Parts: sequence; structure tokens; C-alpha cells
Amino acid sequence: MALRNIIKEGDPVLNKKCRPVEKFDSRLHMLLDDMRDTMYNADGVGLAAPQVGILRRALVIDIGEGLIELVNPKIVMKSGEQHEQEGCLSCPGEYGITVRPKYVKVKGQDRFGNDVTYEGSDLLARALCHEIDHLDGVLFKAHVTEMLQTE
Ligand code: CO
Repeated sequence: MALRNIIKEGDPVLNKKCRPVEKFDSRLHMLLDDMRDTMYNADGVGLAAPQVGILRRALVIDIGEGLIELVNPKIVMKSGEQHEQEGCLSCPGEYGITVRPKYVKVKGQDRFGNDVTYEGSDLLARALCHEIDHLDGVLFKAHVTEMLQTE
């Protein structure tokens, strides 16, 4: 298990657009393994590669239903709207109500380069949108309608 440092808001790396993953090699597998360990260690439901300083299109998600690894993900369908609370491991202690699609369908690749498709509603849809946004340098605050007070 290898934990990586989670980069916090204010670091310009979080505002950069990531390049596609082209090599599905042991280096990618180590990155995904470390991202998984780092996410679980921080009690997060998702983590994107730029949050550990890697500007490549890769993310991990686990909303409590098992690990999802996505490489080069793309939202191919979305519908509806939801207004729920959201936070980010890169913005500790900050939460807000975001506007997100109620449902999304995402196509991408797994760690070996095989095509994969995921569909999600509610929390999974939020997590997919949130993490894919990170790959384009966008933080959840861009979708917040109301920041919530925290102690
Ligand atoms: Co985040």
C-alpha cells in the first residue's frame, strides 16, 4: 500500500486539463493502486489523478458498492437534475449544494485498455461528474449554488 499526497485547492495543477492515458502499463497500474489506497485512507468516494499530481485522465470511485477504475472516461449520456451536498478531498471542510445530472452514462477504459461502460444515478452520477471534471481542471465549486456553513 502506497499513499500519495492529496493536492489541495490553490495548487495550479488542479486547474489543468489532463492528457489521455496512452500506455496501460505497470506504471498506470501502480498509479491506480495508489489512488485507490489514498482514496480509502482519506474516507473519500472518489479521487482523480490530478489530485495526486498526475495530469492523466484516470480516476477511481467507490460509493460503497465496490471499486470503479476509469481511464479516459467520457460522459456519453446524461439526464435529469439533482441538487445535493458535495465536497472534495482537495477542499477539506468545504461543502456545497451542487447542480448535477440525475443520471449519467460513461464510457472509458479499464486499466488494461479494455472498453468499459458505467451508468449511475444519484451519488454515483455525482461522483462520476465530479471526478471527470477534475480531469478538465474543474472543481466542484464551479457547480455549487450554495456553499454550506462549516464549523
Ligand atoms: Co474532488
